[in-house]
Amino acid sequence: MKIVIVGPGSIGLLVTFYLAHQHHMVSLVTNRQEQTTVINEKGIHLIRHKQIAKMNVPVTTFSNFNWDETIDLLIVTVKSYQVTNVLKKVDFTNVKSILFLQNGMGHTEIFSKLAIPELAVGVIEHGALRENDFTVHHTGVGKLRWSYVREGSGIINEVLKGIIDPNFPVEKEQDWTNMLESKLIVNACINPITALFQVENGELVKNEHYLSMMNLVFKEVISVVGFVDDSDTWEYVCQVCRKTAHNRSSMLVDIVNNRKTEIDSIVGYLIRRARDQQIDIPILTFLYEGVRAKELKQGRDAYD
Ligand code: PAF
Repeated sequence: MKIVIVGPGSIGLLVTFYLAHQHHMVSLVTNRQEQTTVINEKGIHLIRHKQIAKMNVPVTTFSNFNWDETIDLLIVTVKSYQVTNVLKKVDFTNVKSILFLQNGMGHTEIFSKLAIPELAVGVIEHGALRENDFTVHHTGVGKLRWSYVREGSGIINEVLKGIIDPNFPVEKEQDWTNMLESKLIVNACINPITALFQVENGELVKNEHYLSMMNLVFKEVISVVGFVDDSDTWEYVCQVCRKTAHNRSSMLVDIVNNRKTEIDSIVGYLIRRARDQQIDIPILTFLYEGVRAKELKQGRDAYD
């Protein structure tokens, strides 16, 4: 199969590494020429338990990529706020299927406009930290969970069920909305608080004050998403905090590195849904404004 991965950030590098091991023709597309140079020269490096494994994968920029050849599977791993712009650069004529791997649900709002016969979404529960343009640390083995939004000829299933690697388990889910909503709840509860208060995930369950803040957030999220078994869902959120206790959430990492965050696709999306249902969510709105304020301040400082 010919597989093209768009966006070699931490998730893109991780997925590329494990897929390239399955003997597919995997290639990467990036926006940045300097990243193509370094990956073509050194390959992709994956660090797990202090061991480095290397894999050679061809990489090109969007402008140099040959979109005339058939692409069996296009995997989009860029951040949710980059999805719309990135898709404008893709020629879909020869693309047979597409898989989206993002946090949040903002990107799902464009699915109805995509005329691709086979489309799926996935969530990455692995710990992955990018060290530089070609190196990713696989800091925690989790799962890649995925589900069809539209099932075409079954290409995505064929590719993903072929990944048999204890370090990269893959699980197929039946209901994509349910799957993304569970991850959305986790991200909405953990990411903004950790980003604003600059604490690791574990702190949210260790410190009773963070725990009660997170519970207030959780209740608002549930009022929008409407999960029935909230006690199990709350336990799941706490379990993720415990399992990733020493991780900094992706939103905290973005804030610390002066990068734009995924707040719009996570909390912004919930605010839009709450507005449609006429539900008041003051705490989530507060967190949204707080993270946006940090992004804006960093942006302003960067230009000062
Ligand atoms: O965005 C993240 O950092 C992760 O999805 C999660 C689950 C919150 C763990 O850090």
